[in-house]
Amino acid sequence: MTEPAFLRETRTSYDTVATEFAEQFADELASKPFDRAILAAFAELVLRGGGGPVADLGCGTGTVTAHLAGLGLDVFGIDLSPGLLAVARRNHSGLRFEEGSMTALTLPEGRLAGITAWYSIIHVPDELLPVTFSGFRRALAPGGHLALVFQAGDESLVRTTAFGKAISLTFRRRRPEQVAALLTEAGFEVRAQLVREPEPYAGGTESTRQAYLVARRPALDRPTA
Ligand SMILES: C[S@@+](CC[C@H](N)C(=O)[O-])C[C@H]1O[C@@H](n2cnc3c(N)ncnc32)[C@H](O)[C@@H]1O
Repeated sequence: MTEPAFLRETRTSYDTVATEFAEQFADELASKPFDRAILAAFAELVLRGGGGPVADLGCGTGTVTAHLAGLGLDVFGIDLSPGLLAVARRNHSGLRFEEGSMTALTLPEGRLAGITAWYSIIHVPDELLPVTFSGFRRALAPGGHLALVFQAGDESLVRTTAFGKAISLTFRRRRPEQVAALLTEAGFEVRAQLVREPEPYAGGTESTRQAYLVARRPALDRPTA
């Protein structure tokens, strides 16, 4: 089957700037207290539920994956970009990183106790979000948790250059209530929503509010088809 153009473009774009991206965002979590707070809550919820495997989807260089491992989670990363995965494996040699797409997870039904998708659903087209979220729900065990963050807003941003190199990358901003509704339609219970104001980051100052959502596959959910 032919790969959709958006996956090819996203992968190629991140591969093109993998080294520069890794350098610029190396210590990003250290300056993001809200990110760390949501990740801490997520980790506590997963551990309180008995723990189990956690997938960090769109893990990039593995910064969030490693942070979650430091919080006591049994976590591995999945990403589209071999270039970023090479950095992740180099920087975090004790952790497992796999190549794959969050839009077509191949994990067994109910395998995971948790999923994070940190600034990564931003590259999934609107029409694929419902099937992507259904895949997340299927991969989670009943009672398993999902934590997401993305740029809040209405319009998409297409970038054609980064770090002086040609890329083709679409950043999709979304309203938190719209994403929460899609999660509910996919069978999740939305447990928490937080929207924060823009803050400085390694590349400048964020241009939008940032939205965090935590959702759960219902504890009594039946296996999906
Ligand atoms: C903005 S970066 C965020 C990286 C990392 N989560 C972090 O917060 O540092 C977006 C990441 O999502 C990955 N990505 C985009 N679409 C993906 C997909 N369909 N499946 C898996 N990874 C994807 C990209 O390769 C990139 O590593």
